Amino acid sequence: MLGESVLPEEFATGIADPQQEISVMLEGMGEPIDVTFRHSTACSAPFLIAVALHKGQAPTQKQLRQISLKFYERGEDRRLLGVIDLRLRQAAPFSGGELLFCAPRCVRNYCLTRLAIGAHYSRLLLKELRSAPAPGMKMSFLERRAAMVSFIRPHPTVLVSIAGEFGGNIFPMNIMGALGPGRFGFALRTDRLAGESVERVGRLVISNVPVRCAPLAYGLARNHTKESVRLEGLPFAIRPSPVFGFPIPEFTVRVREMEVERSQRIGSHKFFVARIVGDRAFSQEPSLSVIHGYYQTWRLGGRTVDMKAALLEDRLNKHGDKLFPIEPEAHPSN
Ligand SMILES: Cc1cc2nc3c(=O)[nH]c(=O)nc-3n(C[C@H](O)[C@H](O)[C@H](O)COP(=O)(O)O)c2cc1C
Repeated sequence: MLGESVLPEEFATGIADPQQEISVMLEGMGEPIDVTFRHSTACSAPFLIAVALHKGQAPTQKQLRQISLKFYERGEDRRLLGVIDLRLRQAAPFSGGELLFCAPRCVRNYCLTRLAIGAHYSRLLLKELRSAPAPGMKMSFLERRAAMVSFIRPHPTVLVSIAGEFGGNIFPMNIMGALGPGRFGFALRTDRLAGESVERVGRLVISNVPVRCAPLAYGLARNHTKESVRLEGLPFAIRPSPVFGFPIPEFTVRVREMEVERSQRIGSHKFFVARIVGDRAFSQEPSLSVIHGYYQTWRLGGRTVDMKAALLEDRLNKHGDKLFPIEPEAHPSN
């Protein structure tokens, strides 16, 4: 029922940014509102999604009971791939409109058949019973299923650069999303130093990573736990970003420079809203992105050969050639 290959929940692949394959609609309040580039996950535990609405778009009390985020493929069929029914937790004024913070009320995932999704969910529940969650990261099964659907929308994995008197740091991030043309939302764990540093500096630069450099981005995960790093020790060349002059990777595909407007500690994550002050694309190369494994399975039509190749692609993107240890040559005297 699970097939021969089970793809990882965070499947790493190359997709152009901004992505054009999924649209995300806010429905249940009259004409659907396209929020593809107007929402971001705000926190994992509790799981909250922030949706940015224009002035006059806020739902009425009655509509609030029936609002959902729906994830559609953008192709001709406009297949519905996932639904997160929402429950409003908080609303805040935002850019002349409103920022709604919503929790999941009910979740449906149509990337797999009902039988397959039932089997996958049982496997995950069993796994959950056997292993303890990371401290401060306990998510209900509803929240986990909502997070899975949220990753039907491709999330680029960017490298965040910050710099100041303390030095500088570069670390990967993908829990994020555009909140309209000039604003950006992102979530950083409250138990890591990266979020504190971003808060202190008040500015950041995000660089899209060409998928050929994916393992370099994954290799910087531990920098979330550091205040600063030795920039000369980075495994790639750097140069100053166009506006702030922060150190960015030479290989970047697209660079956005931002000023933090506000931040809010929610639970496992602090949610930041930033104003974009510079946005430059340097190439059209596919950007390292993350999609949910079920959605990748749907993209591949569940074909075993393609799924096996996809598993390899994901591992290569995350670990590079460490995946294929080179056997030391036998010593002639052996
Ligand atoms: C590709 C990638 C993307 C990440 N994105 C985020 C993010 O958006 N927010 C966040 O708080 N941490 C993010 N992290 C950091 C992890 O949550 C974690 O804190 C980091 O890998 C260090 O974890 P460890 O101390 O368990 O090794 C990311 C890590 C990787 C590898």
